Amino acid sequence: MPSTVLVGAQWGDEGKGKITDLIASDYDYVVRYQGGNNAGHTVIHGDKKLALHLMPSGVMYDHAVPVIGNGVVVDPGVLIKEMAMLEAEGISCKNLKISCDAHVIMPYHKDLDGADEKRLGEHKIGTTKRGIGPCYQDKVARKGIRIQDLMDEKIFRLKVETALAQKNPILKNIYGLHTYTVDEICEEYLPYARILKQYMAETAQLLNEAVREDKSILFEGAQGTLLDIDHGTYPYVTSSSCCAGGACTGTGVGPKAIDRVLGIQKAYVTRVGGGPFPTEQRYPEDGGTGEEAMVGETLCEVGHEFGVTTGRKRRCGWFDAVIARYAAEVNGLTDVALTKLDVLSAFDTIKVCVAYECDGKTYDYFPMQQSVLFHAKPVYEELPGWKGVDITECRTFEELPENAQRYVEYIEEVAGVPVTIIAVGPDREQTIMRGWDR
Ligand code: IMP
Repeated sequence: MPSTVLVGAQWGDEGKGKITDLIASDYDYVVRYQGGNNAGHTVIHGDKKLALHLMPSGVMYDHAVPVIGNGVVVDPGVLIKEMAMLEAEGISCKNLKISCDAHVIMPYHKDLDGADEKRLGEHKIGTTKRGIGPCYQDKVARKGIRIQDLMDEKIFRLKVETALAQKNPILKNIYGLHTYTVDEICEEYLPYARILKQYMAETAQLLNEAVREDKSILFEGAQGTLLDIDHGTYPYVTSSSCCAGGACTGTGVGPKAIDRVLGIQKAYVTRVGGGPFPTEQRYPEDGGTGEEAMVGETLCEVGHEFGVTTGRKRRCGWFDAVIARYAAEVNGLTDVALTKLDVLSAFDTIKVCVAYECDGKTYDYFPMQQSVLFHAKPVYEELPGWKGVDITECRTFEELPENAQRYVEYIEEVAGVPVTIIAVGPDREQTIMRGWDR
């Protein structure tokens, strides 16, 4: 089984959870390489749906080793709660490995995340307030606290003391928030260390050993291409490398070990938080009227577009081929999984954005400048729909109505990547395998 990076090709929430759930059992290792508990996806266990935020999906299978790579930021309290929830459901976490180099989310990271959003007011990013950005800031500033530090009380106390000397004045003087003592933090965090110690590992070494033994690895991306710190719609992004390249830096495995890059694309687009979104169909509360508001509301309602982690209503819009092409390039996609095709059964005709117009110029590639993206007017092509036809029972491409087949082929053509998996409903079996070779 070849090793694969699974990556979101839009702004996250593309349905990565369902596809991971579908293919994860084929791999020996399932590795998270970036992000933290800002991610959220649902996995199916018997007749139950379980929400995972930090734990790699491989935990669901006895034969697979779930790994939290060095590129992840770990909130230990959240991880321990998630492990307890899984154990209570009869799912063992005994195989879990956590990189000793992964950074730890501290209480002040969460405070600062919320406070900074408040400070930004209408220019806020719309973060999940889980402390992700401030934790990565400390990592890059070389002031972070890592899992290995947490395991050594003396070092941990020293690092917390050094951090608080900087954080407390910021919390108090800039944001008017409460401050922390070293003892207070140690009281909360040192018991976490005692629980997590047995899972800490040299994960880069472990994974390279796996590569040498010809074992297969699934690199499980969180968020999506346009939320990537380098390639996304900066500054309206998350603070990690969500793109396929992040799978190498976030685990310590070289690019030669990766055989395939599976991009997850929803049949339409959603985003949460602030930032430009050219094909957005605004809700009435955001100024949308007429057809625009109707399309936005329909996509949200039929697609159940509410965040797993935050419960927020996601912004919705038509499929954007400019983004699809960009995602294909920056990730080096070899395959696409197209999700939620069934949601489009609600429409007479379906629009696809093929280019943007801004200041008299047409862009058929992703514009470099944020200001262009903010003012971009989508150029749409309108395709015939298959309104009212229930496609959730289709299991082969040929069973899909002709217009749905054309839609898939059109998307393949504009992005230049084969669509080898098609999801036609939320359940595992509501899937068309179209060339994805297990
Ligand atoms: P942060 O990751 O909490 O710092 O949030 C930064 C941006 O990324 C915000 O716009 C969030 O809404 C967005 N974001 C973070 N995680 C996810 C996710 O799993 N799905 C979709 N958007 C996300």
